[in-house]
Amino acid sequence: MVDIKKESHINGEISIRNVSKIFIDARNTEVKALHNIKLEIKAGEFVTIIGPSGCGKSTLLRLISGLDNPTGGELYIDGERITGPHFTRGFAFQNPTLFPWNDVWHNVATGLEARGILKEHIADVDEYIELVGLTPFKNAFPHQLSGGMEQRVALARALVNHPKALLLDEPLGALDALTRMSMQDEILRIWNEQKMTLLFVTHDIDEAIYLGDRVVIMSANPGQIQRVIDIDIPKPRRRNDDTFFQYKKIMLDALGVNSD
Ligand SMILES: Nc1ncnc2c1ncn2[C@@H]1O[C@H](COP(=O)(O)OP(=O)(O)OP(=O)(O)O)[C@@H](O)[C@H]1O
Ligand SMILES: [Mg+2]
Repeated sequence: MVDIKKESHINGEISIRNVSKIFIDARNTEVKALHNIKLEIKAGEFVTIIGPSGCGKSTLLRLISGLDNPTGGELYIDGERITGPHFTRGFAFQNPTLFPWNDVWHNVATGLEARGILKEHIADVDEYIELVGLTPFKNAFPHQLSGGMEQRVALARALVNHPKALLLDEPLGALDALTRMSMQDEILRIWNEQKMTLLFVTHDIDEAIYLGDRVVIMSANPGQIQRVIDIDIPKPRRRNDDTFFQYKKIMLDALGVNSD
């Protein structure tokens, strides 16, 4: 039996070296979605990424996932060049792409099935469906789910493979405030337990500070890293103490929002 937990639990250090991505838009002009991005992410680090719409957050995650290639520069994981997708890099993208013909259970099982190890891990599928609170819906089909439920299925589908790097693109964006906070704590708990490297894109300043060891602030046209802020508050954090608000002020200033 393949021990996926053991197999995939080595490192997860990501190196992004001078990465650029140019798209050609509908009017045949160049879009600099990413320009000269340099970022070193330590194994097991929790990095949140924030920035205005169109600054290249999703593009960056897609490049790390290996689903797309940069037009300049290189990306590495544990010293190995990223050239395509691999199950050790799990992702849940902004618009969950569930298989409409599969129910929740089979959507979550997709990766294990593709790897030919589903039989040994049937209980894991149930475990992760339970963890995202969807046990009563495990036989439901995607069209029967709300947007937030679909996001949770996508999260379970990524987690069940025990990736060493987990890439989450606004994974909680469609959730109500209370469910969102409890899912943030769930994600922190899983991260603590499994020690994977976590990259988490969000539009929410509180969420970025609450979760991140570091927050990467990006800006658009061209997509660049504007600033990286270490969040020096021990976890678990409190969402409303003075230090938290100090970081919020720093973030608002960096994002060009006047907080006074
Ligand atoms: N496949 C594509 N073809 C052409 N342009 C693209 C493509 N994908 C992204 N872009 C462009 O690249 C830029 C960055 O897009 P991206 O989706 O990475 O932004 P984002 O930061 O994730 O935005 P949002 O916060 O709205 O999700 C945008 O200008 C977008 O229009
Ligand atoms: Mg995006």
